[in-house]
Amino acid sequence: MKEILQEAGEILRYGYEHNKKIYKKGRVDLVTEYDLKIEQFLKERLSKQYPDFVIVGEESFGGVLPKKAIFIDPIDGTTNFVHHIAYTCISVGVWEDGEPLEGAIYNPILDEMFYAKRGEGAYLNDEVISCNNTENLIDALLATGFPYTKTEKGADFYFVIETMKNLLPYTRDIRRLGSAAIDLAYVACGRFAGFYEVNLKPWDVAAGILLVKEAGGKVTNHLGKPYKFGDIIVASNGILHEALLTKMGRW
Ligand code: IPD
Ligand code: CA
Ligand code: CA
Ligand code: CA
Repeated sequence: MKEILQEAGEILRYGYEHNKKIYKKGRVDLVTEYDLKIEQFLKERLSKQYPDFVIVGEESFGGVLPKKAIFIDPIDGTTNFVHHIAYTCISVGVWEDGEPLEGAIYNPILDEMFYAKRGEGAYLNDEVISCNNTENLIDALLATGFPYTKTEKGADFYFVIETMKNLLPYTRDIRRLGSAAIDLAYVACGRFAGFYEVNLKPWDVAAGILLVKEAGGKVTNHLGKPYKFGDIIVASNGILHEALLTKMGRW
């Protein structure tokens, strides 16, 4: 899997440095010719490597979640990719019966390959990684994201504003890097103590959830219940998970 992502990373790196066709999926939701090219490349390569699994890619999703799925986000952080900001990656997660088996997140601009296999730990460029030991929210650097669905009166916008009000004064700071997959990978390697976001899709989180778990962290929904696709996601080093949920508010 890592070799396939590395090859896909060459396509991303080329696109990052060159002019590209940009389409709008919504008012602010972008897709480029490279999102489509990388998804196509990954589909071809991964379907050969994992013949029993159905490929579910962001740019070609048909609406059904199969039992044995490979979730592909060809470019997570497309807005960063378009604006030449280095937090952009390719994310691939292999799932069976609602559980993650294998996942990789590759940022070809920084050449960082995050990889995890169930029961075998989490790695960054082949070195073992683990979540940090931050115990108190006031020492915690957190990450979050803003969904594309953020019209002023919508529930998602309300969630963003209210959680920010509840958390920001009590943390070291909150980052919005622009790639949910990278945010989760950074929780796994201890750069962030926690991450939360509303309205993410399976391909945004499929690899990152496994990375956080294999690195010793915890992933739940905002109520502290096991995370299911579609829930608000809360990931942390595990130690401050309860404190994070409590301060966020239970919604
Ligand atoms: C987005 C990024 C972003 C998050 C959005 C996602 P995309 O994915 O992960 O950080 O805040 O909710 O949709 O569209 O760049 O693949
Ligand atoms: Ca997108
Ligand atoms: Ca994404
Ligand atoms: Ca994407």
